[in-house]
Amino acid sequence: MESAARDQWYTIGALNDFPEGLSHRRLLGTDLTITRDGNSFAIHGARTRTDYGHLWVTLGTPERDLFDLPESREPDRRSVYCGAVQVRASGLRLVENFLDLAHFPYVHTDILGVEENPEVAKYEVEQRRDVDELWATKCEFFQPKAAASSEGGQISQYMYRVVSPFNVMLYKTPPSAPNRWDVIALFVQPVEPDLSIAHPYMLVIDDTSTDAELIGFQQMIFLQDKIVLENQRPRLLPLQPGRETPTRADLSSVLYRRWLKEKGLTYGTEARTDRVA
Ligand SMILES: [Fe+2]
Repeated sequence: MESAARDQWYTIGALNDFPEGLSHRRLLGTDLTITRDGNSFAIHGARTRTDYGHLWVTLGTPERDLFDLPESREPDRRSVYCGAVQVRASGLRLVENFLDLAHFPYVHTDILGVEENPEVAKYEVEQRRDVDELWATKCEFFQPKAAASSEGGQISQYMYRVVSPFNVMLYKTPPSAPNRWDVIALFVQPVEPDLSIAHPYMLVIDDTSTDAELIGFQQMIFLQDKIVLENQRPRLLPLQPGRETPTRADLSSVLYRRWLKEKGLTYGTEARTDRVA
């Protein structure tokens, strides 16, 4: 496996998902045996750390520390674990779909978008080289039901932040606190090149919804995405120019693919299959 994939931090689950003693997971085609002793975790042949309520693992030597999530230290936020979802698609497809604003009216019809209003307004993308992150800012979209606590439609403001090839988060105006940002993270565990486990996680400002309502809303959205993702062909992400019609290739998708190429990341891409063949 290339170092660009090996030398990264990946989550393999929320801390509460691991029982005391031994449990098993799979990451990058590698079986892992996790030993839990209270709050300490160990995996033979891998390094671990615990952050943001999740267990993080690397099979190599990451150049950087795990990304910072300052919102996790804000005391009035609720951390919500939405449960792990297996998706038969490349983890890179999951991240790219998460970044795609254009699918809201068609995939999340009458929730995150409306078919009568499908245009994506112009937004900005940038690669922040000091932190090696991709950002999309000034995204705006009319949403009939933007969040679990919404009582009507709103123009939602969005920002997207890609912190590593398989970890992404979006910042979105909460219905109740227009001057702050809800954080919705998608941590992807690449199990095989074309098989992933998504770990959606939220840090939200919401005094009214129950945990069950917040989780239910997120799961409904994610199951709509899962259907689309599992029907997409190829299951791996094509990186060759012109391989895929550019309907989905909006600004952030173009930047994301270019960034993966620059990193030499091939796990979960079609480039890898080509090379093996
Ligand atoms: Fe979606």
